[in-house]
Amino acid sequence: MSALRTLAFLALVGVSSSQTSDCSYVGLLTHLNLTTTNDLLATMRPVKSWTTPTLVQLDMLLYGILEVDEKTQTVTTHIWVEMRWTNEFLTWNPEDFCEVNVLTVPQSKLWLPDVQILEDVSDTSSIHRSSVVNLYPNGTLSAPARQRMTSTCWLNLLMFPFDTQECNITFSSINSDGSAIQLGSVNTDKTLTLISEKLMITKGEWELTKMEIIVFNGTKTTGRRHELTYKVIIARKPMLYVINLIIPLLYFLVLDFASFFISEDRGEKLSFKVTILLSISVMLLILKDILPSTEKKLPWIASYCVAIFTIVGLSVLEAMLVGYLYDLDGCCCKTAQSPADAQVDIQLEDNNPKEPAGAKYIPEKSSLPLDRLNGYDLLKLILEKVKATQQEVEEQNKDQRKPGRCRRAAVIIDSVFFALYFLTDLVFLSYMNTHWFSAIYSY
Ligand SMILES: *[C@@H]1O[C@H](CO)[C@@H](O)[C@H](O)[C@H]1NC(C)=O
Ligand SMILES: *[C@@H]1O[C@H](CO)[C@@H](O)[C@H](O)[C@H]1NC(C)=O
Ligand SMILES: *[C@@H]1O[C@H](CO)[C@@H](O)[C@H](O)[C@H]1NC(C)=O
Ligand SMILES: *[C@@H]1O[C@H](CO)[C@@H](O)[C@H](O)[C@H]1NC(C)=O
Repeated sequence: MSALRTLAFLALVGVSSSQTSDCSYVGLLTHLNLTTTNDLLATMRPVKSWTTPTLVQLDMLLYGILEVDEKTQTVTTHIWVEMRWTNEFLTWNPEDFCEVNVLTVPQSKLWLPDVQILEDVSDTSSIHRSSVVNLYPNGTLSAPARQRMTSTCWLNLLMFPFDTQECNITFSSINSDGSAIQLGSVNTDKTLTLISEKLMITKGEWELTKMEIIVFNGTKTTGRRHELTYKVIIARKPMLYVINLIIPLLYFLVLDFASFFISEDRGEKLSFKVTILLSISVMLLILKDILPSTEKKLPWIASYCVAIFTIVGLSVLEAMLVGYLYDLDGCCCKTAQSPADAQVDIQLEDNNPKEPAGAKYIPEKSSLPLDRLNGYDLLKLILEKVKATQQEVEEQNKDQRKPGRCRRAAVIIDSVFFALYFLTDLVFLSYMNTHWFSAIYSY
């Protein structure tokens, strides 16, 4: 009996102490009616009067820019979102409960605002939501979540690779309009941008410039719900593309320009130009992999590549024409003289070795025919030879002084084209400079 009495006494002491200051969670949970299954808390929007809208405050931080896909016009980011709202029924006075300042409550027991991201096209499996939410004494609930999100974003690639993209991440309730759920943010956009810049680890080729918060108060007339938009502005780091695409293409143009100074007689000029053209087409292939085919307006880089390709292509055609004219000239003039030339060459070659050979090795034998010829015949023979060679030299000189008509036309075409080519290059590069290259200097 005494044992029972002491037990009852102890129980009484326990109950009385819990009433004054309860340091266990049980007391608090009982006070909040969370110990029993309370479906009401999960189904009802937690306001005492239904006319009071619930203000959902959202904070979004950008942890990383994982991928920007120009082809599908999507941006994959790693974001962290914290939602805050107030439950008017779940409040307590911390002094009554041993200064408990925060309580974790399973999400399944509570009403949650159905706020979602409108641009989100990723599968839901990538959302990592905590199964519990934090509850504060004034009834504020906070539910953090992080997510790998692929969102649609209209990418404007006109200035690629010196482009800045604006991507909207819009939070909105799926079912409730402004009379039930209103949206707002806890921190200002400047604070969020600063924190994001510090936290961001993976950025790829992108740099976070700014985040802006735009609140849209939907009304029945506009037909839209309340929206909270994070306008994320990111800038591309263009150096890779400058080194990989723009500078090589510029060098190819310069090389093609320089190839005008290769002598026409050598056959290398044309093959050199064709090699340059092939190299440029490789660059075009790289570009094809990057840019989408959905652009209405051609990006500057595409115009740049195509223009250089066209310029070099035209200069290859011109080199072909000039080469053809040279060949034509060679056919008309040289074929008539080449046999004579060959004969003279053979004769000279035949004659030349005889003289030193005769002088050095067999002076005695050669003296015999020389003795037979008298001085006059010998002089006549020499005179004939000298006359013949003189004629040859004169004809050759005529040849050089008077190139064929085709050859002259080729030289004129070449000079005119070269001048035009130089002018076109100048105009093209300065035009590109004003519209597009100038963006380089801002980096
Ligand atoms: C808990 O439930 C009881 C009855 O079920 C009710 O009287 C009490 O007001 C509720 N407490 C809270 C904090 O809702
Ligand atoms: C409720 O308490 C939390 C945590 O202390 C605080 O951040 C928040 O501003 C409070 N809310 C209101 C409406 O006072
Ligand atoms: C982003 O949202 C703002 C405000 O709703 C709108 O003005 C802007 O056009 C949107 N931008 C894009 C790229 O959709
Ligand atoms: C939208 O509503 C909120 C809360 O009612 C208000 O503070 C804010 O100024 C409104 N914004 C606009 C653009 O009307």
